[in-house]
Amino acid sequence: MDAAAFDMVRQLAAGHYLVGTLHGVARLGVADRFDSTAQVADLAAASGADPGALRRALRLLASRGIFVLAGEEVGHTEASRLLREDHPASLRPLVLMFAQEVQWQAAAAVPECLTTGEAATPRRHEGGLWGYYAGRPDEARIFDAAMRSKAVAQVAGILASYDFSPYPRIVDIGGGQGHLLRAILAREPAARGVLFDQPAVIEAARAAGEPGRLAFESGDFFRSVPAGDLMILMEVIHDWDDAAAGRILRTVRAAAPADARLLVIETEVPEGNEPHWSKLLDLVMLAQFASLQRTREDYRRLLAANGFAVSGVVDTGADISIIEARPV
Ligand SMILES: C[S@@+](CC[C@H](N)C(=O)[O-])C[C@H]1O[C@@H](n2cnc3c(N)ncnc32)[C@H](O)[C@@H]1O
Repeated sequence: MDAAAFDMVRQLAAGHYLVGTLHGVARLGVADRFDSTAQVADLAAASGADPGALRRALRLLASRGIFVLAGEEVGHTEASRLLREDHPASLRPLVLMFAQEVQWQAAAAVPECLTTGEAATPRRHEGGLWGYYAGRPDEARIFDAAMRSKAVAQVAGILASYDFSPYPRIVDIGGGQGHLLRAILAREPAARGVLFDQPAVIEAARAAGEPGRLAFESGDFFRSVPAGDLMILMEVIHDWDDAAAGRILRTVRAAAPADARLLVIETEVPEGNEPHWSKLLDLVMLAQFASLQRTREDYRRLLAANGFAVSGVVDTGADISIIEARPV
């Protein structure tokens, strides 16, 4: 027997305890409570944790490179610093989002999804994930913060790889808090932007500040969207199966001027068996929405079936690709 294979499967089988430990430590804000090193007892007192339990949690995380533990002294690593609120690429909001009840429920239902091929969340919550958040504004704002957090590296990669200067009016559809659009406008002083999302999301985005060239519109992208010279759908299409994604694309197609461009910005699933974030996200998509992460070819087909032709694909190098399409 291969001992490494045995151990890998055994550790994966109990992986949800590792994940729960990460969630707990992030919730307690442990990483924010010291700069370089600290004593476990002091961290426990400051965060309201049980010292013995916290030490065991930190020992487990340190075995995965999140913190280092030497006796009773805890130190930071590159990974543990990503749990800090003040890190420019902080992943704490993303960790807190995956710690939400609605994510644990969906993850626990994955075995059931494998037989039904259906999503778990809409069975439990009317209106699925978006209905769940509509009734829980505090959790919804954590989701919005998670989207900002996961997008920090993506936005940098996108800005470095695409020329936004030819487009005077840029519309970000399902743009969340506007992290991408605000960054584009900061780069392109002549451009104006329209951020479009659901009403509660837009209300929160507006409260975060209204730079002069950014307008806000709320609505339902299954009904209508604002027109732009450049229309963006970033990590929106992956939330929907082909039929619903087709309806969104046709709504965009109906609004798009003949010479507009559409950017579908998504993490493509690579060929081959290497570990890749898209393959994990794909199962999140199945359990939450009965949707999927797609390959480049999937996007080409989906766009062609709904009034667009792919005019270029850019791999940003930030685990996200820009699929540019034009109306046909
Ligand atoms: C996965 S998030 C992506 C956010 C952002 N584009 C990004 O990549 O960081 C999907 C977005 O679609 C929005 N959304 C969901 N249903 C919508 C609808 N029917 N009309 C408009 N926006 C919707 C959500 O509120 C959310 O902001």
